[in-house]
Amino acid sequence: MNWTGWFALIAVFGVDFAVRASADEPHRSPLALAISPDKTVCLTANYPAGTVTLVDLRECRILAELGVGSGPVDVAWVDESTALVSLRNDDAVAVVKRDAARLSLLKTVVVGDEPGGLALSKIRRRAFVVLSGDDTVAVLDLDQLVSENEKQETIVLDRIAVGGIPRTLAISPDDQWLVTCCAVPCEVFVHDISSMKQVSARKVFDGGFNPGVPSVTSDSKLVILPSAVNRAFSVTAGMIDIGWVIDNRLTKLPLPDGEPSDQKQLGLDIRGKAVGDANAVAFSPDGNVIVVTCGGTHELLVLEFPSIPWPSGDPGDFLPEVLRKDATRFRRIKLGGRPVAVQFVGQRQVVVANYLTDSLQMVDIEANRITETVRLGAPDEPNMIRRGEIVFYDADRSLHSWFSCHTCHTDGHTSGQVFDTRNDRTYGTPKLIPSLRGVAETGPWTWHGWQTDLKDAMKRSLTESMNTEKPISDEDVDSLAAYMETLIHPQNPRANSVSSNIGLGRQLFEGRAGCSKCHSGSTFTNSETFDGAVEDSKDRNKLYNPPSLKGVSTRRRFLHTGKAKSLEQVLNKFHRPEDLVGETLDDKETAVLIEYLKSL
Ligand code: HEC
Ligand code: HEC
Repeated sequence: MNWTGWFALIAVFGVDFAVRASADEPHRSPLALAISPDKTVCLTANYPAGTVTLVDLRECRILAELGVGSGPVDVAWVDESTALVSLRNDDAVAVVKRDAARLSLLKTVVVGDEPGGLALSKIRRRAFVVLSGDDTVAVLDLDQLVSENEKQETIVLDRIAVGGIPRTLAISPDDQWLVTCCAVPCEVFVHDISSMKQVSARKVFDGGFNPGVPSVTSDSKLVILPSAVNRAFSVTAGMIDIGWVIDNRLTKLPLPDGEPSDQKQLGLDIRGKAVGDANAVAFSPDGNVIVVTCGGTHELLVLEFPSIPWPSGDPGDFLPEVLRKDATRFRRIKLGGRPVAVQFVGQRQVVVANYLTDSLQMVDIEANRITETVRLGAPDEPNMIRRGEIVFYDADRSLHSWFSCHTCHTDGHTSGQVFDTRNDRTYGTPKLIPSLRGVAETGPWTWHGWQTDLKDAMKRSLTESMNTEKPISDEDVDSLAAYMETLIHPQNPRANSVSSNIGLGRQLFEGRAGCSKCHSGSTFTNSETFDGAVEDSKDRNKLYNPPSLKGVSTRRRFLHTGKAKSLEQVLNKFHRPEDLVGETLDDKETAVLIEYLKSL
């Protein structure tokens, strides 16, 4: 049976079976998990397979698997018999019913562009889901959502505006505060759930980026958020070694608001053996222990929460010595693969969703070991693409394990950060990290277009951006290049819009505004280099390869400097048609041109 046939089978029947490995099975690669309120079962969101798996936590075995749709990224239980799943690629939330060991799909509700993190307010009967493509949070009527009633119009009550690319959510245990973490820029929004009014919006200080899954303390007074930190120095071995390129930290913010000085951070890295890609945090039932999954370094960190010395002011470059030297306060547990989501089932037992080992792992955090592994299903052997994916998410490929390709090119897109990877052989000319979506089709590569071979570019990324100390094999390069081929643009909901403005914008793009001279063909780029007339550039070399404009609406920073924060700023300030082709556009024309760009 091929992939699609296999998928159709589970989509239709649901499956009660012990997972059997075979060459045509998809990777389950869970990205999220949710433990049922009675703590007997767990549901996982299996991103590439489009399924959810129900696992019995006492017997550590699979009870059922169900096809739910494309790109499940988060799950949450409403009660013992109902769960919600956000489907990134279907722009929808699925409602799953559970009857003992059986799962069935009740319905799928379209909610908006690129749903991500999900959270529920059971008291106020609301479900919240971030819409990463729309910079909003959808507010759903929980009772309407889970009812058998077919009517869908009344389910989405509101879409509240937050910052750029919202990713993850948390709700305070007292059901009062909704915490939304946005990626570009890295900001934490707090809303009062009773009024849905915004109470605060705070930037994660000191260059925070890639916000992970936050957790709120049991007294509902603090949010703890894992993230990477851009330290802004050039990417050289010396700077990486002292922690001045990318750090990994926890940030502590008071709820619901507070002075900037109330924000504290804790550096998690150890010199010579750093932490890569801190993904999610969770508190033990008694609140005394916090665990952190680190996808890049394949481990779980365990910290005694009350003894964390939140340094005031500068958090320092490394984990404080009082923690590092005391195993009762800080431990690192090797899990392998890419640990992403984590939840506690008891005081010393956690469950981890491990994306790259296709499994759930039960971990005893006092004995420091995995006690059980539930394999959710995968092909017998990883193929070339999967091997490339493993390299891409591996922070051990960077000097002293501080970061991975994914840290900068988040999930194959971009973290929106600017780094001086010295690709152009100069210092002090940092560049915006390009998205890798569609990258295999848009050579030549790098901003100046100096890389004409994708495999050479992979080698360069490993030696220069990552400063790897490991030998680079042909297989590393070939598999990374194969993985690049799979990074495609998500469906653009505006692509099929018949708006007349889009048509007018297109006429301008191809006509008077002269854009298609440089942004041409189906990828809207070019094999040549041009002077993009970008102000404020420190580069000595003024010639750049035009970035592909496909999927440009999914970016929040533009041009090689990353200084343009919107398409309006690109065209009105930094990359003006009058400087490029000698044509001035009025506001109306600029607006329709932008509508067209957002449809690409
Ligand atoms: C420290 C952040 C960082 C890391 C880590 C990193 N990159 Fe990059 N990457 C960049 C920046 C910045 C550029 C643009 C460089 C330039 O044009 O001068 C870039 C450019 C690229 C490009 C060219 C894209 C295009 O459209 O021209 C590819 C492909 C790429 N990186 C892949 C990778 C891979 C694969 C890895 C891991 C082996 C990796 N990168 C690690 C920051 C990073
Ligand atoms: C002379 C060639 C040329 C023309 C004409 C041109 N561009 Fe560009 N465009 C470039 C280059 C080169 C860059 C990268 C410049 C840089 O970052 O320094 C760029 C960058 C961009 C970006 C930023 C994309 C990103 O992801 O950072 C956008 C958006 C864009 N162009 C839109 C347009 C539009 C719309 C027009 C027509 C009004 C246009 N361009 C005309 C060459 C051109």
